[in-house]
Amino acid sequence: MDTFDVIIIGAGAAGLMCAGTAALMGKSVLVLDHAEKAGKKILISGGGRCNFTNRFAGPADFVSVNPHFCKSALARFSAADFIDMVERAGIAYHERQHGQLFCDESAKDILAMLLAPCREGGAQFSLNTEVTDVRQQDDRFVARTTKGEFRGHALVIATGGLSIPKMGATAFGLKIAESFGLNVIAPVAGLVPFTFTGKEKERLQQLAGISLDVSVSCNHRVFSEAMLFTHRGLSGPAMLQISSFWRPGDTLSIDLLPGIDIHAFIEQKRGERPHAQLATVLSELLPKRLVQLLMEDGPGETQLSQLSRQQVTGLAELLHAWQLKPNGTEGYRTAEVTVGGVDTDELSSKTMQSKRVPGLYFIGEVVDVTGHLGGFNFQWAWSSGYAAAMAI
Ligand code: FDA
Repeated sequence: MDTFDVIIIGAGAAGLMCAGTAALMGKSVLVLDHAEKAGKKILISGGGRCNFTNRFAGPADFVSVNPHFCKSALARFSAADFIDMVERAGIAYHERQHGQLFCDESAKDILAMLLAPCREGGAQFSLNTEVTDVRQQDDRFVARTTKGEFRGHALVIATGGLSIPKMGATAFGLKIAESFGLNVIAPVAGLVPFTFTGKEKERLQQLAGISLDVSVSCNHRVFSEAMLFTHRGLSGPAMLQISSFWRPGDTLSIDLLPGIDIHAFIEQKRGERPHAQLATVLSELLPKRLVQLLMEDGPGETQLSQLSRQQVTGLAELLHAWQLKPNGTEGYRTAEVTVGGVDTDELSSKTMQSKRVPGLYFIGEVVDVTGHLGGFNFQWAWSSGYAAAMAI
């Protein structure tokens, strides 16, 4: 049986980046995946247009127990490097808010771009292939699969996170890490909508469909983006972002009117229309249905002239720091990513190679490095995949 220079398990974003780079450098590469085709998450990403990177991607855009770990790989293969690849491939793209870059046409273009160097460099693919067992024998790794045994001098685990099991996400990478004695940071769903139960769920359901710009904070992190009320709870970019920092039992603090001075606003309106109802005036700033719900928690139906100073202070607190306690999240069923994964203490930040097991690499989402929303997770897949390929 031939021994490949490298076996890569996982034909997703990180695995393909690693495979193409290594193959072009003359390495013999075998990519194994249990899915019937490569890059399935790439194809559905960004609503089919793939938010393939973020122009401003930097270490501060990632969550990890060790926030410094991602620095080296991001510096060696940056957003600018990936944009360069995209431009050289002639893929038209555009920038949306906050530096997010999307394909003009289709995510298929990114997948084709990643597969081209794999083909050119002669990387072999075995799809529809279950890996049942991985072991080390002499100085080789042996992957036992439903299509036979394969040997590699190096083994790269690029099996991603746990999100969207329906699409083939598994805990395989984490189990392999543990089987080789590597520590794993407990995984949780990230970039995921919040859910509520009981009375709070019923109250919030009345607001389903409303979207507004807010600043949400939890565990010393703040995100200012849109929030969307859904039939199950809260979604929208602001909620997805903060979900990566939220843990069960935590309360969200939501500024419904960021940048607006409620005291000054009420004073001005009181001067102009003292007999106006508070709810009527607040409806100039917020959707009516939301104002009605907030009135239940606030001073209730009152004329502006009758509002006490204390009531205005209470109102400002309610509107600038609305406290909501989710009972949970929608979990891996809809989460965009997994927070946690292979402990970065176990890996070289320069090469992604295991410190304990030479020749064993972990790249992409299986590692405890998780990007914020906005193209950062793919950038981590590209950067970590490239770092490993250069070291193999
Ligand atoms: P990825 O999940 O891409 O690939 C893992 C591969 O391993 C898959 O091909 C899988 O089949 C295979 N695999 C898993 N278990 C296996 C096993 N046991 N045996 C064999 N093979 C196995 N990010 C971003 O930056 N911009 C965006 O627009 C989006 N959009 C987006 C939309 C949706 C709906 C989701 C769910 C996620 C995103 N993301 C995103 C996140 C992004 O898709 C994700 O972070 C990367 O795909 C991670 O790349 P990996 O290569 O690590 O895993």
